[in-house]
Amino acid sequence: MPYEFYKIAHLIGIVLLFTGLVSLLTMKALNIELTPKAKKFAFITHGIGLLFLLVSGFGLMARLQMVREMPNWIYVKLGIWFYFGGIIALIKRKGHFGFKLFWPLLLVFAFAAYLGVTKPF
Ligand code: HEM
Repeated sequence: MPYEFYKIAHLIGIVLLFTGLVSLLTMKALNIELTPKAKKFAFITHGIGLLFLLVSGFGLMARLQMVREMPNWIYVKLGIWFYFGGIIALIKRKGHFGFKLFWPLLLVFAFAAYLGVTKPF
């Protein structure tokens, strides 16, 4: 698959991931009943987003010839990937804390974007 394919898949992954996280956070923060349908939507978009990010991330690396010698920032991105994977459990339990939980998500996203765009180390 071409580079552009993985790039667009990476962006779709981000949208799906945040759809899941933010929809769950909104329901919890506003005390909206978490129906099975709503729960399914949030968890499935989050899960598929993570899958897209991982697969397209490695696809991008392959297209950018980074697989043989993996740059260090990729390890940090893997850590960020685990962070976004785990954080949904926190939102499920502590989402009633409200939208202040959104800012750490945005901040870590900004860091992931910085790493991907500048490839600093
Ligand atoms: C296993 C995890 C990941 C890997 C291996 C990975 C890999 C990459 C690579 C190689 C690039 C450079 C693409 C390029 O220069 O064209 C990139 C860019 C990017 N990544 Fe990731 N990534 C991962 C996870 C994430 C996560 C979790 C996020 C955010 C939620 C994220 C957001 C971004 C963004 C915003 C860019 C810049 C895209 C652009 O230049 O248009 N990545 N990633």
